[in-house]
Amino acid sequence: NIDTHLSLQTPSEHVTPKVPFIIGVAGGTASGKTTVCNMIISQLHDQRVVLVHQDSFYHSLSDEQLQNVQDYNFDHPDAFDTGLMLSCLEALKLGQAVSIPNYDFKSHKSIEPARMVNPSDVIILEGILIFHDPRLRDLMNMKIFVDTDSDVRLARRIQRDTVERGRNIQNVLDQYAKFVKRSFEEFILPTMKYADVIIPRGADNEVAIDLIVQHIRTKLSQHDLCKIYPNVFVIYSTFQT
Ligand code: ADP
Ligand code: C5P
Repeated sequence: NIDTHLSLQTPSEHVTPKVPFIIGVAGGTASGKTTVCNMIISQLHDQRVVLVHQDSFYHSLSDEQLQNVQDYNFDHPDAFDTGLMLSCLEALKLGQAVSIPNYDFKSHKSIEPARMVNPSDVIILEGILIFHDPRLRDLMNMKIFVDTDSDVRLARRIQRDTVERGRNIQNVLDQYAKFVKRSFEEFILPTMKYADVIIPRGADNEVAIDLIVQHIRTKLSQHDLCKIYPNVFVIYSTFQT
């Protein structure tokens, strides 16, 4: 009888804590990554879910770099503090709370206060270059690439950056031509091959988002089974797909 077996061997206070399910959502600028993440989160309302943005880990610009900001490539992997991002993700995976920097797109610097993020059942990491570093990829249980037409992305970016990020249209177009398009082709698009799921049309693709949520629910319920029957933990805990 399994109940007797469990009550003898594993009192509830010794149940192994959950290892969070980590999802990576990559794609070009303004492809709809954040929008897709928010749609996934709203469907997982009964779970503890946290969204982490790669943008939070941009290096702050020095005064010298700020004077020539038009020459700075924000779409290059070196623009991010990947070491810090990795240590935050590793801590979250271990069930620890972390402090995540708060990046300001107007001043190009991290500003106070930082954001405290509590441990969760699901961690979603979104950003243009989250599949670039193999150590980050290895932490992810599921990798999604949002594939949206470049013209649509540029149109959205002009709209967003002029309204929300304090830019003028000429800045946005110059930066796009000088760095954004080129880096997309050189660094971002080649990481699409690491994705488990590619979502064409981003947030417009409700079928893809429903299927992804179903998959996450299946994985989480397998994991809940581990809590109920901890003696099978090893078999189910790794979230392998
Ligand atoms: P990313 O996180 O990839 O930069 P966002 O999800 O922030 O992209 O979307 C960029 C902009 O485009 C936002 O202003 C958002 O409201 C808009 N947007 C995203 N997806 C759609 C969509 N399917 N239809 C219309 N506008 C969208
Ligand atoms: O939200 P999204 O994925 O579009 O954010 C990444 C984009 O933000 C990059 O394409 C980069 O050019 C832009 N960026 C910027 N200014 C900064 C930091 C990032 O324009 N200070």
